[in-house]
Amino acid sequence: MDLTSAGYTQGLNREAPWDSFDSRAYHQHNYAFLRKEDQEIIEAVRDYFCEHFRKHPDRPDSGIDVGAGTNLYPALSLLPWCSNITLYEHSVENVLWLEREVAAFSANWGAFWDVFTERPEYRAVSDPRGAVASAAAVGKGDLFDLPRARWGIGTMFFVAESMSTAYREFEGAVAAFARALTPRAPFAAAFMENSQGYQVGDLLFPACGVDAEDVRGALAPFAEDLRISRVRLPEDPIRSGYTGMILACGRRV
Ligand SMILES: C[S@@+](CC[C@H](N)C(=O)[O-])C[C@H]1O[C@@H](n2cnc3c(N)ncnc32)[C@H](O)[C@@H]1O
Repeated sequence: MDLTSAGYTQGLNREAPWDSFDSRAYHQHNYAFLRKEDQEIIEAVRDYFCEHFRKHPDRPDSGIDVGAGTNLYPALSLLPWCSNITLYEHSVENVLWLEREVAAFSANWGAFWDVFTERPEYRAVSDPRGAVASAAAVGKGDLFDLPRARWGIGTMFFVAESMSTAYREFEGAVAAFARALTPRAPFAAAFMENSQGYQVGDLLFPACGVDAEDVRGALAPFAEDLRISRVRLPEDPIRSGYTGMILACGRRV
């Protein structure tokens, strides 16, 4: 998709129609069932957090998923590690969707949870639906306003590169996410690779084309033990206009 020919010429974060984000369409298109590439990401995040907490058993008080949208699997990745999870979101529509889902999440998330439960740390959460309902709270806000050094574990999936066409806003979003974490907090962040923008329902949303080196460069000043991996484009990609996915796991310095 070419945003310019589609009439979307600017593309700064504040200019996109976030409050008209069609939550249902986005959820249906991306998360109605478990796709191979999400499974690959879940396995890597699950194993990174398990490895981290085996080496560093102190559990954080609270975790955050930044730009949660209509994706609950980053929140599921946090469940064994903290008893308070903030689902931080900018869009009114996504906030309403999250509030409904948190109360009793839908059956589709069962297949995602099953991948987590291949590790005993996740199996120990016997009632994930109840655990999400009691641990997660939705917070409405702009990630550029996040407080510093507040959360002890964090995730941010498909947000920093999928909110603006401006590279400086991609870098700023990564920095805001990292700065919101406390020293030595483990994190996982996922990015679309070389995204040209995306359509949700009838509306177009901006993206900034980034690759693994851009992700490394944006996170490196804030992270140690940084592990960047590339998830290849599947045979049936969710849409056109991107070349794969990038996962970054690490620890806040
Ligand atoms: C491509 S969606 C990703 C949603 C979800 N994390 C996922 O994994 O599918 C981008 C998300 O970023 C949110 N977003 C955009 N600008 C934001 C901002 N300034 N602060 C916080 N969230 C923002 C949008 O509302 C949307 O939910």
